Amino acid sequence: MKRHVPIGVLLSGGGTNLQAIIDAIEQDRLDAEIRTVVSNRESAYGLTRARNHDIPTTVIDHRGHASREAYDQVVVEHLQSQGVELVVLAGFMRLLSPYFVQSFPNRIMNIHPALSPAFAGLHGQRQAFEYGVRFAGCTVHFVSEGCDEGPIIIQAVVPVLPDDTEETLAQRILAQEHRIYPRAIQLYSEGRLVIEGRKVRVTGEDGDTRGETALVNPPLP
Ligand code: GRF
Repeated sequence: MKRHVPIGVLLSGGGTNLQAIIDAIEQDRLDAEIRTVVSNRESAYGLTRARNHDIPTTVIDHRGHASREAYDQVVVEHLQSQGVELVVLAGFMRLLSPYFVQSFPNRIMNIHPALSPAFAGLHGQRQAFEYGVRFAGCTVHFVSEGCDEGPIIIQAVVPVLPDDTEETLAQRILAQEHRIYPRAIQLYSEGRLVIEGRKVRVTGEDGDTRGETALVNPPLP
């Protein structure tokens, strides 16, 4: 029997990345078991997505806690009580305290809708669109104590097209998020991610991208 890594997914909103993870598990592309989905917001549609698949959910409202760390203690305790090994941040709109990060050392992943280290923080897609980059993308990384800066696991690049709006670009990026996040978790589950300082080495890679043509945008004649 293959090992299924026990994960906990934290979210605050729509949960399309959660859905991509659920779909990958159901399609046997991802050896993981979602032990719990936690939201700080009762109204997060991601909770409904989880319930539709009989996945346990918990709302832990951030309001009414004395400090960020006090809130994080409750969340960490819940995750530990459910036997969560890997914490998956999927649109969880809160910064984690050092206490949280230290409670799951190298066992927290995040997806950021930009090509890190560019455009950290909120609205990575908007930042990229307004800056006028020719390529944008998304990044799955391990979480360290800084914001959106931990060791990078996988990235996907998309072109910015002449008639793009911020919304169409965000959609193109999101479609790639749904491909790379389940993959990053699967690599973790297979024990293939080795953190070496800032870098993540992926052991036993099936292939590499050296043979691929570079992407150029606008295209060369
Ligand atoms: C995504 O854009 C992700 O990159 C960011 O939060 C958003 C979550 O979207 N961290 P969803 O709730 O998974 O649809």
